[in-house]
Amino acid sequence: MVVKEKNQNYIMNKDLINSFEIDYIFDNKPIKRYKNKPTIENITSNLKNLKSKILNINNCDLKKNAKQIVFSDGDFNSSVMIVGEGPGQKEDDLGKPFVGDAGQLLNKMLSAINIKRENIYITNVVNFRPPNNRKPEPAEINRYSEFLREHISIIDPKILILMGSTAMEALFGSKIKISKERGMWKEVIISNKTYLTMITFHPAYLLRQADQKKYSWADLKEIRKKIDRLKLKV
Ligand code: URA
Repeated sequence: MVVKEKNQNYIMNKDLINSFEIDYIFDNKPIKRYKNKPTIENITSNLKNLKSKILNINNCDLKKNAKQIVFSDGDFNSSVMIVGEGPGQKEDDLGKPFVGDAGQLLNKMLSAINIKRENIYITNVVNFRPPNNRKPEPAEINRYSEFLREHISIIDPKILILMGSTAMEALFGSKIKISKERGMWKEVIISNKTYLTMITFHPAYLLRQADQKKYSWADLKEIRKKIDRLKLKV
């Protein structure tokens, strides 16, 4: 067992290192710790693969009842990603997330903090409309959360916004309450990467509970502040 020195490096604790049963190689070159930024082609093909994985899901009541997949909308290069619950009727008809009443409110919420919808990326926890617009069941949330994690890894946003309890549960589990968790910056780790995350109320909930809009407004201002602080372009 020998310590090998490249470029004649002076190794102070050579004796100590030599006492370990491992062969070390010392080099002047820095370790490459960061992955290369994925190319647009990589992102597009990863998204395509993910979409076909979801399309091929078996024994899923959501898929059986839906007209089509509702995968995503917006800019896949964006630093901001929004996750909702699942498609409603209009989304199922058009194959695009957040195009019904909740979508109209979402657009207003975004423009209130100077964000153009087309500059961010939007998806849902489940990609097929639940029958009668019911909330996805825990097993469904769990099953689709695998796809959601992969989706987040591909988009690799700087800020992740989880709208509503379904999106919160998909990444943080069901033991927490959205009323307590919303409005705070949290971290979620996916494939060894930490994502800065904000849980906030779902626009459909705000349409039913207008008195909660004040909390949503506070969250939106916090999101805007973070975007400015991180100098993100949206
Ligand atoms: N509600 C959601 O959570 N997602 C949509 O796409 C539409 C309504």
